[in-house]
Amino acid sequence: MSKPQNPSALDEKLLQALSLVNYPGFDTSIVEAGLVERATLDPGGKAVVVLRPINAPDDVRQSLEDQVASVVGALEGVTELSLTLPEPPKPQADKPQGPRPISGVKAVVPVASGKGGVGKSTVAVNLALALSEKGLRVGLLDLDLYGPSIPMMMGLANAKPQGEGDKLLPLEAWGIKVLSIGFLVPADAALIWRGPMVAKAVKQLLHEVDWGEIDVLVLDLPPGTGDIQISLASETPIDGAVVVATPQDVALADVIKAVDMFKHVGARILGVVENMSYFVCPDCGGRHEIFGHGSVSPLARNLGVPFLGEIPLDPAVPGLEDNGQSVLAGAPASAEAYRSLADQVMQGLGLAGGGKNA
Ligand SMILES: Nc1ncnc2c1ncn2[C@@H]1O[C@H](COP(=O)(O)OP(=O)(O)OP(=O)(O)O)[C@@H](O)[C@H]1O
Ligand SMILES: [Mg+2]
Repeated sequence: MSKPQNPSALDEKLLQALSLVNYPGFDTSIVEAGLVERATLDPGGKAVVVLRPINAPDDVRQSLEDQVASVVGALEGVTELSLTLPEPPKPQADKPQGPRPISGVKAVVPVASGKGGVGKSTVAVNLALALSEKGLRVGLLDLDLYGPSIPMMMGLANAKPQGEGDKLLPLEAWGIKVLSIGFLVPADAALIWRGPMVAKAVKQLLHEVDWGEIDVLVLDLPPGTGDIQISLASETPIDGAVVVATPQDVALADVIKAVDMFKHVGARILGVVENMSYFVCPDCGGRHEIFGHGSVSPLARNLGVPFLGEIPLDPAVPGLEDNGQSVLAGAPASAEAYRSLADQVMQGLGLAGGGKNA
């Protein structure tokens, strides 16, 4: 957020009021999310509020407008409000602010969930590997600033990326380009980051990296609908989000919340995938259905988004990941499911023929 260098007490009062407004669909305020470009209140009672451009659908713009007008109108002494709202979808490569394509990247595919521990990182890594196996040029970016797990899973635990000029160079593992905040910052440092620092880190990891030419950039997100997710949406258009759910999640509102979040920032949703869907017995090879199995598909239908399939609960997976070994190579039942997920993702992105239909 471009908070003035020395905001007056009046500006501070205005900012405080704005921090009561959450971006619709997210658990973070517009101030915390770095979406307030300018907020000034002059002694004559005129408030000026400018929000950063984001791909907000019309109903979201309206809701933001109403909320801002309501909190600012409630401030003592305010007589006039000039409000500039986020632009509707209109990505422009030459515009310094607002969502813009990442140089050299054809499609941005975040992997998200409303709840922690459902397998986002596992899905992100193995989807990336399966897409690469199918001949695409793939990047994998770990945006989980609060708990990055990609370095360990990709066997790059102690690696350090290099810079070239003013850009970072991703590392490479198993044929895909990999970058994680975990390579750059000690875990405990990122934990205390909030708002503008998070927004800055997300911006750097998206736009100040030399990805070269890649077809798909898979993003591993932290759980929930917070500052990292909204920073992502305000930095780049989302070509296709993948939401991960486990069968038991369905009783909770988490899946709905995650899908909703993407709808509120005008992102395209490729669909929802059911992880830990059924159990493949390592001894007998038999398939055993888990409590709640099959419940994600009807939920996806109700939400109006595609169902992307089922991934088994596979006891081999945690051990492989902890040792930085490939699940595609070491766990055949899972590998099959990820190849099928990759097919769906390619189809959804229009990449099935080998190139994005743009
Ligand atoms: N299909 C699966 N079968 C067996 N274990 C799995 C499966 N998917 C994920 N796991 C295991 O579950 C744990 C959590 O997975 P993962 O770290 O991918 O979840 P996450 O959603 O990224 O978590 P967080 O919200 O903490 O980032 C890991 O130990 C992982 O190995
Ligand atoms: Mg994770």
